[in-house]
Amino acid sequence: MITIIKNIKCLVQVAYKQQEKKVGVEMSDLPVIENAYLEIEDDRIKSFGSMDDWQGVADWTRTEVLDAEGKMVFPSWCDSHTHLVFAATREGEFVDRINGMTYEEIALKGGGILNSAGKLHALSEEELFKSASDRLMQVIKMGTGAIEIKSGYGLSVEDEIKILRVVKRLQDSFPIAIKPTFLGAHAIPKKYKENRTDYIDLIINEMLPIIKDESLADFIDVFCETNYFTPEETDRILKAGVAIGLVPKIHVNQFTSIGGIQVGIDNGALSVDHLEIMKPKDIEDLKGSNTMPTVLPSCSFFLGIPYAPAKELIAANLPVALATDFNPGSTPSGNMNFVISLACIKMKLTPEEAINAATINGAYAMNLQKECGTIQVGKLANFFITKKMPSYSYIPYSFGENPVEQVFLKGKKIN
Ligand code: NIG
Ligand code: FE
Repeated sequence: MITIIKNIKCLVQVAYKQQEKKVGVEMSDLPVIENAYLEIEDDRIKSFGSMDDWQGVADWTRTEVLDAEGKMVFPSWCDSHTHLVFAATREGEFVDRINGMTYEEIALKGGGILNSAGKLHALSEEELFKSASDRLMQVIKMGTGAIEIKSGYGLSVEDEIKILRVVKRLQDSFPIAIKPTFLGAHAIPKKYKENRTDYIDLIINEMLPIIKDESLADFIDVFCETNYFTPEETDRILKAGVAIGLVPKIHVNQFTSIGGIQVGIDNGALSVDHLEIMKPKDIEDLKGSNTMPTVLPSCSFFLGIPYAPAKELIAANLPVALATDFNPGSTPSGNMNFVISLACIKMKLTPEEAINAATINGAYAMNLQKECGTIQVGKLANFFITKKMPSYSYIPYSFGENPVEQVFLKGKKIN
C-alpha cells in the first residue's frame, strides 16, 4: 500500500543521511522543505521532496493520495521519559501543594511514589492495561509516535513485573514504538525503611532475573536523589542491570546535585533525566560522554521547581532531549506540544532547538534513532499532519492547543 501526502505547506525535520543526534549549535538547524510531498510504502517512508519534483502516481490501484494544503507534516514526537502505567491520579496531593506543602514533604509523609504503589497493588493487570491504553491513545492523538514507559509504581517483585507485563501488552497492541524501562529503584518501600539494603538485594536478586528471563525491559532506571537512592546504591543497581544487558537511563539532579550524573556516565547511561539542579561540574562531566541530557519542563511547571538549564547545556556544546515525564505525581500530562512550548517560553530554547530536542534527540534517548525522529527514507512512517498553521513556530506559540490533525503510525492512519 502506498500513501502520498501532497501539497504539504512545510515538511519539517527532513534528513538525507543517518545522524545520531544534534549537539550544541546543530540544534539550531531544522531542515524543512516547503510545498512538499511525502510518500509512504507500507510501514516505511519511501520518498519525499519538493512538489516540483513529484513524479505523480504510478499505480492508482494501490495508492491513496491526501492533500495537505496549508498544513505541515512533522515526524512524530519522541517522548523518552514517561511513567504511563499507573493506578490512580493524585489531585489530593496537588491541593496539598497549593496549600503550602512541598513535593518532598508529601513524599516523606507516605504520599508520592509510595501512595501510587499502594494504589497499584490493588489493581489487576487487566485494569492497569485498560487505563494505560486510554492514556496511550491520548498521547498518540497529540503527536507522540515513540514512547518510553517505566515501571516504578510496584516496588515489589509481583507488582513491578505486573507493570512491565502491561507495557509488553501495550507493545503488542499499539502501532506506536514503545521502549520499556525497569525502575524498581523508584523509592524505598515503607517496610524496608530500616533495612534498605534488603530492598536493593530484592531488586538485584529477584526482580532482575525475571526481567531477563521474560525480556521485559530494555533500560534500567534509578531515582538517584536525596531521600531516595544514593549514588553508591545507584551504582550497584545499574551495574546489576548492565550485567543482564539493560542500558541505564536515570533520574538525577531533580532536587539536589549529589553525584548521580557521574554515576550514570560511568555506567554508560543513554540518558540522564531531570537536571533541574546542576553544578558546573555536572555540565563539565557530561562533555565527552555519549549520554543524552534530558529535561522535563512540564514537571518544573507543575511542581513549581526550577527549570533545567537547557540553554546552558546547549551552549556547552551538548545535546538536549525533551520529554514529558507523564506520571500522576509530578507531571500529570503527556502533551509533548506543551513541553515544546514550555521549553521555548521558560527555558528560552528556540523553536528549532525545541523541535530537535523533541524528535531526533528524543529518539536517541530511546535508542530509536535509526527508526524515528526525522523524515528520512527507510525510517518508520510515524508522523503527523497538523491543522492549518502559518509556520512551525506556531506550535510552541499556541500553547495548550493540540496542533495535530491526523496521526500516522507505521504508515497507517490512526482514527
Ligand atoms: O520523574 N522523580 C521521580 N519520579 C517521578 C515522579 C514520581 C511521582 O511523584 O509519582 C518524576 O518526577
Ligand atoms: Fe520520571
